Amino acid sequence: MSRLSIWPNLQIRTKITLPFLLLFSVTIFGMLVLTITFFGSQYDQQFSRETKQWIETIQRTQYIEEPNKVKQAYQCEVVVFGGDNTLNGTTLIELADLDWLDLKLIFNLQSVRQQLQKQNHPVINNIRLSGTIYKAVYIQQSLNRIYCLLRPMNHVEEAKKQTVQMTFIIASFGFLLVVTISSLIGKHFTRPIDRLVAFTKQVSGGDLEGQCEVFRHDEVGELTKAFNLMTKELRESRRSILNAEKLTTIHQMSTAFAHEVRNPLSSIRMLTQITLEKISDTSVQQSMSKILDEIERIEVIVGGWMDLARPTKLDRTMTDLNLIVNDVLKLMTANLSHHHIKIEKDLAIELPMISIDADKIKQVMINLILNAMQAMPKGGKLHLTTCESEKFVEAKVSDTGLGMNSKTMGRIFDPFFTTKSSGIGLGLSTCQQLVEQHLGQITVDSVIEQGTIITIKLPNL
Ligand SMILES: Nc1ncnc2c1ncn2[C@@H]1O[C@H](COP(=O)(O)OP(=O)(O)O)[C@@H](O)[C@H]1O
Ligand SMILES: [Mg+2]
Repeated sequence: MSRLSIWPNLQIRTKITLPFLLLFSVTIFGMLVLTITFFGSQYDQQFSRETKQWIETIQRTQYIEEPNKVKQAYQCEVVVFGGDNTLNGTTLIELADLDWLDLKLIFNLQSVRQQLQKQNHPVINNIRLSGTIYKAVYIQQSLNRIYCLLRPMNHVEEAKKQTVQMTFIIASFGFLLVVTISSLIGKHFTRPIDRLVAFTKQVSGGDLEGQCEVFRHDEVGELTKAFNLMTKELRESRRSILNAEKLTTIHQMSTAFAHEVRNPLSSIRMLTQITLEKISDTSVQQSMSKILDEIERIEVIVGGWMDLARPTKLDRTMTDLNLIVNDVLKLMTANLSHHHIKIEKDLAIELPMISIDADKIKQVMINLILNAMQAMPKGGKLHLTTCESEKFVEAKVSDTGLGMNSKTMGRIFDPFFTTKSSGIGLGLSTCQQLVEQHLGQITVDSVIEQGTIITIKLPNL
């Protein structure tokens, strides 16, 4: 229960490492047990075979009566017990000092005798004598005597110990290797998650400008892409809210401004007109009519301000976009050639008529061409294109000017965003507002130091 409650709280890296370690430990432990068992059984078989042959030889050659010769020949000890379990002879001198009852117990003679009566092959058991382990092989001789061959087993025990030690050392290295490899694998999988978590914290801290790099195309990569998309949408919606707020502020400011300026301005105009009618001096008349011209100019500027802030109703008529482009060019050609800008036109031969507010689209085109002109202070090439796509009629304004970096490109439609010392930053936001009012789209494509292409798409209605 407690394991289950700890498991979900473990780091993913640990969750990956742990099963590997568990698997490795079980495998190593299993291998150790198998190796020892296998060696044990192999040794036992070999021992039985060998000992049987020795005993046959000992019996055949009558060495059985000469334990010391047997000891010399086979490096093993011999103990002979009489029918009454007393010690009849031995190559181990230290046994002579022991009480016969103790010997009976050490060699387990009672059970050995019982077994020897039941079977006609030797009995084998393990005994320990003054710190040495022996395998004891018993055979029955005449007069109920027991002949016991003691083979020292210390070297076998030593080999077993060494095997365990070696396996333990290899297992420790293996364990370290598994820990390293599995934690590297874990790191490999969790690194992009860690990066995504850091990026999430950055976004939740309010920084929506960044993007989390996608290094892979697996599930984590897909998650990162989805998160980037979500951040982008969040950024755009935050920007459009901000833009709407700015436009509302302009609206409020310009309404107040118009209210304060327009009324005194119309009084001034009315009074100027009345005075003009009453005055006969032509030079004063000329000055008065100049004043009237300037007043009208101010009224147009104030009206323009109002338009910028508050989208007026569109006055739609069926119009040819080529016609608008040509009209705007006529107006601006002199100015453009004054700035050493060459004009290239690539207009579609025939464009469908579309329902648009011609004045508003003209205003958009003027803004775009003005921006292009300002982006080419040393002159350049202005390329105007029109074409028809499936659902839209398009116009493109391309220049060979300064271009923009991606950061500037992301902000050009923000009201009041400008990079020019004398700019206001309302040109493109007005263009976007007007094009979107027509249910169209405006897009920008720019390469720094090479130029900019701004495309407007108007629905083919
Ligand atoms: N054709 C263009 N080439 C390079 N930069 C441009 C271009 N058009 C617009 N921009 C950038 O977009 C900004 C905003 O343009 P705009 O809204 O028209 O305001 P303004 O012209 O008053 O600066 C400009 O300051 C400029 O940095
Ligand atoms: Mg501008």
